[in-house]
Amino acid sequence: MEYTQAVIDHFQNPRNVGEIAEADGVGEVGNPSCGDMMRISIAVKDKKITDCKFKTLGCGAAIATSSIATEMARGMTLDEAMALTRDQVAEALGGLPPEKMHCSNLAADGLHAAVEDYYSKHPEAK
Ligand code: FES
Repeated sequence: MEYTQAVIDHFQNPRNVGEIAEADGVGEVGNPSCGDMMRISIAVKDKKITDCKFKTLGCGAAIATSSIATEMARGMTLDEAMALTRDQVAEALGGLPPEKMHCSNLAADGLHAAVEDYYSKHPEAK
């Protein structure tokens, strides 16, 4: 199994690890087949994500995709974050081995869940 340099870098030096205090939205997702879990928190201002952090209990690919997804999400509008796909997350890392593609699901799904949580508290923002 071959990982790109970007995957290795984000796994060894993950960005935006942690949790935003008093986050505006929090998403928690898990992969039932492997048991990995991810929690993504966002801060939102004027319908834009101003900060994004993650905590992941999971494999290296899950950590790397969480890290890149939080970087991509920062500065995005809520609509753009909802449109971010699993493939885009994987592509931003130069791809993932086929057997690890499912790991990128968590990052995109976790971000979407955090935005949905924000919308549930601020329906007027939709
Ligand atoms: Fe579970 Fe990667 S093996 S997310």
